[in-house]
Amino acid sequence: MKGSIRYLAAAVAATVSIGIIAAVVILVWPHHTPPRVLSQTISPELVARGRYVAAAAGCEACHSTEGRAAFSGGRPFVLPFGTVYSTNITPDKATGLGGWTAGDFLRAMHDGVRADGSDLYPAFPYTAYHAMTDSDVLALWAYLATVPPVHAPAPKNSLRFPFNQRRLIRLWNFLFMPSDAAAGSGASGEGEVNRGYYLVNALTHCGECHTPRNLFYGLERGKALSGEVTSGWAAWNITSDRLHGIGDWSVEELVNYLRSGYAPGRAVASGPMNEIVKMSLSQLSSGDLRAMAIYLKRVPPSDNGPAVSSPAEAMASSSSFGPSAAEEDSRGRQIFAGACGGCHGWNGAGQQQATAALRGLRSVRDPTGLNVVQTILQGSSIVLPTGRESMPGFARSLSDGELSAVASFVTMHFGGQRDRISARDAHAIRTGPSG
Ligand code: HEC
Ligand code: HEC
Ligand code: HEC
Repeated sequence: MKGSIRYLAAAVAATVSIGIIAAVVILVWPHHTPPRVLSQTISPELVARGRYVAAAAGCEACHSTEGRAAFSGGRPFVLPFGTVYSTNITPDKATGLGGWTAGDFLRAMHDGVRADGSDLYPAFPYTAYHAMTDSDVLALWAYLATVPPVHAPAPKNSLRFPFNQRRLIRLWNFLFMPSDAAAGSGASGEGEVNRGYYLVNALTHCGECHTPRNLFYGLERGKALSGEVTSGWAAWNITSDRLHGIGDWSVEELVNYLRSGYAPGRAVASGPMNEIVKMSLSQLSSGDLRAMAIYLKRVPPSDNGPAVSSPAEAMASSSSFGPSAAEEDSRGRQIFAGACGGCHGWNGAGQQQATAALRGLRSVRDPTGLNVVQTILQGSSIVLPTGRESMPGFARSLSDGELSAVASFVTMHFGGQRDRISARDAHAIRTGPSG
């Protein structure tokens, strides 16, 4: 007995010391390759292509914030260990990328390293951009040089020790940076599926929200696109699983959703997905959206995520015209009648606005009701060829109790759910990272 404890202690001590030595080596190792020296001829075509790449890659979405010029940064990202702000990527000399070379930029995009050699936090999705081709990155660089320079220093990050030590990111990169692919190798194959792979994984970085993360904020690559809660919203499982994912959607439905945020009878995009549609996906060509949809339909199915009710169960619960089911909370029903029913209709088909159809949506079939509560709090709007359709936010007008009652009514009546969303959960969502 004593012998085996001693053996175990020795094994633990040996593993810990090897770990410490490895960590120290990684932290002090000057592993960054120097930036390459590059020259390119700038043409209007190259700039136009760079503008398209910037839209696909969502640079403006993250590098802009209310009250500041496009690309001038300042947007906060709340991470488990503090807040990081996006930086100014306009060509301003003092506070932006004005002093950078094309080689510095390429290295930043592929490896997450600044011009001065310090490491960037992975809130900047360089783990995805790592696979961007050199030619796409250089087109982007040509385009960013045409953006008006703005003097705008980034706000100071507020990160707890030891996470405020940029050197630590090296260790993180060692553990979580995709090591299987060489930088720039994302678009190696021909054809729609390969183009879709490149767009989804390298440019539009869907996995940054839709892939689960481990304790250390690293993406769990074995569970790619199988769903995660991000900034207080559920980014659904979008693998080809028929119940948990988008396996039942047609390619056309996916294309419509990505282009406009609305796929009739399937889903309407609110919150962070709404923003991705507006700032990025709505600007992509039909061919690229189709390639993405075809690729998504081939992502291996995963049933990761909470036990969702099926569209058929949701249909059954909402088919009764008018509020009838006894188990539905009368307070929630009353609030719905007063504040929501005029737009949404009792049978879940939407009234004047087709996008307000609630029946069978993924958000109402989710037992946590997370996105239902978020949408009620924040409101949402989407722009279709026929005009804008909007929902006001109710954060000021509903108490936690009222929020819980009406959200529970919605998930039970339109989503076939059995359990209520408690006032405590509603409160936690209201005060959470994005509330
Ligand atoms: C999901 C949000 C997000 C997206 C999308 C994003 N960035 Fe960033 N980016 C950040 C954050 C946050 C930082 C700051 C990281 C830090 O301080 O370590 C950053 C930093 C950078 C830097 C380093 C600048 C410096 O001065 O240190 C560059 C260059 C950059 N981004 C370019 C881009 C480009 C080009 C795109 C589009 C292809 C892009 N980013 C898309 C969030 C994002
Ligand atoms: C910034 C985070 C974020 C990014 C990046 C993102 N999504 Fe989403 N996505 C979400 C959220 C949150 C929802 C849920 C929206 C809702 O319920 O209204 C969602 C919903 C969806 C849905 C609807 C699924 C359903 O069952 O209703 C699809 C499809 C989807 N996303 C595809 C994509 C694709 C493809 C990409 C990459 C181009 C992507 N998303 C990038 C956050 C994101
Ligand atoms: C003025 C009309 C209007 C009112 C009032 C309204 N909504 Fe909406 N709602 C919409 C529209 C339009 C959409 C779809 C557009 C969007 O999500 O951007 C929507 C979307 C939703 C969604 C789907 C969110 C998602 O992403 O899946 C839910 C859930 C919802 N509303 C619940 C409610 C509840 C509960 C109330 C009352 C407290 C309410 N709405 C009040 C018009 C309205």
